[in-house]
This record gives sequence, structure tokens and C-alpha cells, in this order.
Amino acid sequence: YGDFNQKIDYVFKVVLIGDSAVGKTQLLARFARNEFSVDSKATIGVEFQTKTLIIDQKTVKAQIWDTAGQERYRAVTSAYYRGAVGAMLVYDMTKRQSFDHMARWLEELRSHADKNIVIMLIGNKCDLGSLRAVPTEDAQEFAQRENLFFMETSALESTNVETAFLTILTEIY
Ligand code: GTP
Repeated sequence: YGDFNQKIDYVFKVVLIGDSAVGKTQLLARFARNEFSVDSKATIGVEFQTKTLIIDQKTVKAQIWDTAGQERYRAVTSAYYRGAVGAMLVYDMTKRQSFDHMARWLEELRSHADKNIVIMLIGNKCDLGSLRAVPTEDAQEFAQRENLFFMETSALESTNVETAFLTILTEIY
């Protein structure tokens, strides 16, 4: 019945990062509100949404932060990463460049975030299978080398979105 009077056991901050247009905002919209928008606007600055879930009989409030992938719209990075216990590094599996940039995003994340942060690599837009530009094995190999969790998702078709967020939240917990 909403969040009213609900006892929250934990609040977990999770940040979304990755190039512009990979689908960060839509992954969050799908997870938090079960919504999807085709004409999603570029994020300016920082936004966040929360969703409360029960994990292992505890009430966990997930606070998911979304920022602009475009440099010119990005807010102060240190504030964005502060207190984050989880991160999703998102690329678009139909855009090789967005995957090639993952190493840079990871470097930024590791230089600003807590060293125990749980990180998941996300290959989004798996509904566009015929346009795939990043083989699953390439991403798996990168994830293994960098010690990240990995999943392919579609915010459009809802594939693995809930699973990805639940996995990261359960790992944090
Ligand atoms: P910035 O705010 O600029 O950082 O972009 P973003 O990463 O938040 O991307 P956004 O969620 O705004 O999505 C960009 C475009 O990709 C939009 O047109 C979305 O509708 C589309 N999109 C997002 N997720 C998916 C998906 O899973 N499949 C398909 N086919 N399109 C998607």
C-alpha cells in the first residue's frame, strides 16, 4: 500500500552509467514503473527513482540514479557516485562503440566509487538481435576479466530487466 508507514531496512543506491542513447533511462523506467518510451529524451543532469522490494524478508529501498551519457549534460561526477553500492555499466549491443567505451566508464567508476561496489555489465537492446554488433562472448570475456556480473537485456521487451536489478540488489545485500 505505497510506502506509507513502511519500515525500510536498507536503502541501496545504484548508479547507471554508459554512453548516450544506450537505454539507461528506459531500463530504469521499465524497472521502477514498468514503462517504456520510444521517443526518450536525452537525460540532462541527474535523476533518480526508487522502488521498494522485499529481499530475504527485509524491505529494501532501491534508489536508482540515472545521469546523462552526453558529456555536456553531465553533472558533478563525485556527487553522483557518492554512497553508491551498486552500478550498472550499460552499452547498446547494436553499437560497438558503446561497448568499446565500457573500459573508460569502468575507470571513472573505479576512481570515484567505493571499492566494494557491485558492478554489472549490461548489453541492452537484445530485442534488436539482427543488428547485433557485440558478440555475447566479447562481453562475457570483458566481464570475467574485470570481475563484473553480466547480462543482456531489453527495456523494450522487458527481457532480464527485473532479473538484472534483482541480481545486483541481492549481491549488495
Ligand atoms: P542519455 O540520457 O542521453 O544518456 O541516454 P540513455 O542511455 O538514457 O538512453 P534512453 O533510455 O533515453 O534510450 C535511447 C533510445 O533507445 C530511445 O529511443 C529508447 O526508446 C531506445 N531504447 C532504450 N532501450 C531500448 C531497448 O531495449 N530496445 C530498443 N529497441 N530500443 C531501446
